[in-house]
Amino acid sequence: MTPSDFSEYPDNDTCGWTSPDEREQLEIELLLEGVHRLYGYDFRNYALPSLRRRIWHQVHAERVTTISALQEKVLHDRECFERLVYSLSIPVTEMFRDPSLFRAFREKVVPLLRTYPYIRVWHAGCSTGEEVYSMAILLHEEGLYDKARIYATDMNGRSLQVAKEGVFGIEKMKLYTKNYQDAGGTRSFSEYYTARYNSVIFQPFLRKNMIFAEHNLATDQSFNEFNVIFCRNVMIYFDETLRNRVHSLFHQSLSHFGVLVLGAKESIHFTEYDDCYEPLDRVEKMYRKIK
Ligand SMILES: C[S@@+](CC[C@H](N)C(=O)[O-])C[C@H]1O[C@@H](n2cnc3c(N)ncnc32)[C@H](O)[C@@H]1O
Repeated sequence: MTPSDFSEYPDNDTCGWTSPDEREQLEIELLLEGVHRLYGYDFRNYALPSLRRRIWHQVHAERVTTISALQEKVLHDRECFERLVYSLSIPVTEMFRDPSLFRAFREKVVPLLRTYPYIRVWHAGCSTGEEVYSMAILLHEEGLYDKARIYATDMNGRSLQVAKEGVFGIEKMKLYTKNYQDAGGTRSFSEYYTARYNSVIFQPFLRKNMIFAEHNLATDQSFNEFNVIFCRNVMIYFDETLRNRVHSLFHQSLSHFGVLVLGAKESIHFTEYDDCYEPLDRVEKMYRKIK
């Protein structure tokens, strides 16, 4: 299925009262409004292009033909709603994703963290937890894990369940080992997991200071004060209004000189909080809160 498949309409559209584009827009709005009112999940400020693609993907996956038909199914069938949330959440991730960022974190942030009596890290939008295990390994190797707590949140309960178990596909270990080494890892990566058939389970000691919880960046409030917040490859799916809401939440949740880490395609610039941060590493999207 390609994006162009999603925008095809019959030539003989005789509805008359509105163009296909306007009707699609209306159907999307009604679907999102229904989901928000019935289930409390708010996708109304997600960026339209990817939202639209994912909705059409779900129309086909549910074997219906219109967004209105999807809406009916979603409102009457909780499992159908859960499949929609899973599809809209785009749970793509990997360990030590963007290795140069983790290397820069070791070089520029770890020295700051050494000066703190304890460390609180928040991974917002952690998906299935690969980023969280990467951070636990990094802090362990730097001798900081015992005084750290890693809070890992996502709106997607299914992804969080995978994260809590720490079981990942064995076929991914080749890439993760390379990422780990490129990120400045100092040991043999296989020390951190045990292989079982087609999967690996990460060592239980890595989980001991992790706290997993459902948290929705579109609707929930701040819940603690943090020295570091990672929120990578999440806000690219949000519109400007929602991005500003999330930046407000992070600004409230970071301690003075706390560090905010964004994804490679994200930036603090052009948000309402631009002047509250100074870059620690412009290329790697690491910023320090200064006011
Ligand atoms: C592409 S993954 C990024 C995972 C990880 N941060 C990384 O960079 O590898 C995006 C994640 O953001 C989560 N997400 C999307 N909207 C969210 C929201 N409103 N609140 C919390 N998490 C959200 C999704 O469920 C998904 O797990």
